[in-house]
Amino acid sequence: MKKILITGGAGFIGSHVVRLFLKKYPNYEIVNLDKLTYAGNLENLKDIESNPNYSFVKGDIVDEDFIMNLFQENKFDGVVHLAAESHVDRSISNPTEFIKTNVMGTINLLNAARNSWGNDFENKVFYHISTDEVYGSLGKEGFFLEETPYDPRSPYSSSKASSDHLVRAYFYTYGMPVKISNCSNNYGSHQFPEKLIPLMIHNIQQNKPLPVYGEGLNIRDWLWVNDHARAIDVVFHDGVLGETYNIGGNNEWTNIDLVKLLCQTMDRKLGRKEGESEKLITYVTDRAGHDMRYAIDASKIKRELGWEPSITFEKGLEDTVEWYLSNSDWLNNVTSGDYQSYYEKQYK
Ligand code: NAD
Ligand code: TYD
Repeated sequence: MKKILITGGAGFIGSHVVRLFLKKYPNYEIVNLDKLTYAGNLENLKDIESNPNYSFVKGDIVDEDFIMNLFQENKFDGVVHLAAESHVDRSISNPTEFIKTNVMGTINLLNAARNSWGNDFENKVFYHISTDEVYGSLGKEGFFLEETPYDPRSPYSSSKASSDHLVRAYFYTYGMPVKISNCSNNYGSHQFPEKLIPLMIHNIQQNKPLPVYGEGLNIRDWLWVNDHARAIDVVFHDGVLGETYNIGGNNEWTNIDLVKLLCQTMDRKLGRKEGESEKLITYVTDRAGHDMRYAIDASKIKRELGWEPSITFEKGLEDTVEWYLSNSDWLNNVTSGDYQSYYEKQYK
């Protein structure tokens, strides 16, 4: 039996990782540590909450004493660290919160793991989940490689870059058994509707304006969240210590083309006239410092660990839209309360 700590397991990607690990590794005890911020939702894990190999701990990774004690009380064999503040727009309005959670939270976990493991790192892993946004912004050509120099432009990506550097520093300085992966934009079920795809699905359904930043020509490389979870499984188990793996879908879309595709899909599913939802598209003021293009070269993880995306974007998006339409309770619950005031402020 191995005891694995997953941080941020009540969030979007974390909940998929918790589910995958519980299903695939019946000999693992999974502890999910999450502060349950606006983005964390235990409803995301309803189907597995009574699994005897699963437990939930509510706590804040920024609380140094709490984290130290948690590692003293539990002898974790591995850590999969996903807990973070994750939305660029929120980092523009409140950068300090991102430094606290993403930087201080990560160093607290590193210190607690190091303290609890002593110098016995055998069969231990500290796996830090990061983003391609640390590499900055691409022009029309080229891809992000693992060797691409860091060039973060937003408070969010800067805080993630900082945490990546710390994790690497603990490898070189203390010999900590770390791994890092940097992934492109995820989409799928259970994503909080402040991010592009679920926000647009929600607004189309409600016949609300679809706020496209700037000219809608920025490009993102989209990956199905379950494929990211599969990649996390592969890196956690087979990745080489001290190494970084880029993860991506080789699937670039301009925002405007993606929003139009969502409109077409939703028109079909909601029985609306063709072109009906596209009328909701509204160009709004661009995001400050908006990165132009992200695109991942994921050939290392394919070559060395045999991972590649399992489904096409068309299939993944169709299933995703279907999930949000059949889970309107989930969407209604997370968009009540605080979401309303965030939305008013962001899109006034
Ligand atoms: P999310 O915002 O949906 O979830 C984050 C989770 O972390 C939430 O459950 C939240 O409650 C928890 N959390 C936040 N602050 C905490 C704290 N101080 N202590 C304990 N828990 C806390 O994020 P996500 O999209 O699932 O992203 C997960 C990780 O993957 C992040 O590290 C993010 O940087 C990274 N990532 C995300 C994407 C993406 O497209 N969403 C892409 C690449 C990498
Ligand atoms: P987002 O989902 O916030 O992810 P990230 O900024 O981390 O890539 O945004 C994806 C893209 O969509 C990004 O270029 C910003 C754009 N966008 C809009 O045009 N309108 C919106 O309302 C949102 C949330 C994002």
